[in-house]
Amino acid sequence: MIAKLGRLVASLPIPRHLRDGVEAAFVVVAPERHLKTDELLALANQHQPDGILMSLGMPMRAEHIAQLPASVRVLATTSVGYDHIDIAAANARGIVVCNTPDVLTDATADTHMLLLLGAARCAKAHVRNMDGGWKIRNGFFQGLGVDVTGKTMGIVGMGRIGRAVADRARGFRMPILYHNRNRLSPDLEAGARYFPSLDEMLPHCQVLSLNLPGGQGVLMTRERFAQLPKGAIFVNSARGSLVDEEALVEALKSGHLGSAGLDVFQKEPNFDTRLNDLENTFLLPHVGSATIETRTAMAELAIDGIVAVLSGRTPDNVVQA
Ligand code: GLV
Repeated sequence: MIAKLGRLVASLPIPRHLRDGVEAAFVVVAPERHLKTDELLALANQHQPDGILMSLGMPMRAEHIAQLPASVRVLATTSVGYDHIDIAAANARGIVVCNTPDVLTDATADTHMLLLLGAARCAKAHVRNMDGGWKIRNGFFQGLGVDVTGKTMGIVGMGRIGRAVADRARGFRMPILYHNRNRLSPDLEAGARYFPSLDEMLPHCQVLSLNLPGGQGVLMTRERFAQLPKGAIFVNSARGSLVDEEALVEALKSGHLGSAGLDVFQKEPNFDTRLNDLENTFLLPHVGSATIETRTAMAELAIDGIVAVLSGRTPDNVVQA
């Protein structure tokens, strides 16, 4: 029998199709439901694991990291974003943190286009109509959205997901503008126009697309929404923390924004329901990466990260503070 690499505590249930592989590598303690941070900490202190598998939606701040047992050497989150983890605090205790980049790029970019199309084409009202048995018969000039094809898209954050969104948007013949910390090489830019200043890009964006990591404060303020052209569509599949939601509600109510497609919110799941009460929104419950293939690949990548660290290797998906 091959010796196990150590003990693994998970904050989420591990599905059957992954379980045998995980149990071959580790002594596994996995719950039947998603745990909250304090429940995970209690389980970790009870079982003294070498590795922890956790997910989004559970903060792991400095005060939580301080409560982890000394046995923990690696913490892997089944998400590309890691703004819920205090990386510096983890590293200071010698804990390596891994995430799940790349494998969710396509699924997230697909969801992003779903948000854009849903917002542009009044999908919420039409789905509600069908749910109600198609009681509203739209006249020729009723229930109309706006075209997406040919509209100019400004992308904030031209990393892997931003570029995958640009690829899809080009299929809709959308000219692409982007704002990023650094200008991309011409092959990655693929014809997109770079704006070193977000404020200078905003007036040109008929669609504004947020595709950057969270944890960098509020980017879309009242002033910035005001710089978008009237009728612009706002799409966010990145993080709710990047947006002043009060300002977003105002801009949608006034009609300055034509519509918004949102997968992420300041507070999840207790989001600001005024956003759903508005007719010109299309909302999803943070499901950017939620496909069978992608979630399986994310779990595998996170687990591979734990295997690598506990085998004395440095995996590619280590997050740097
Ligand atoms: C999703 O939001 C992720 O960070 O994986």
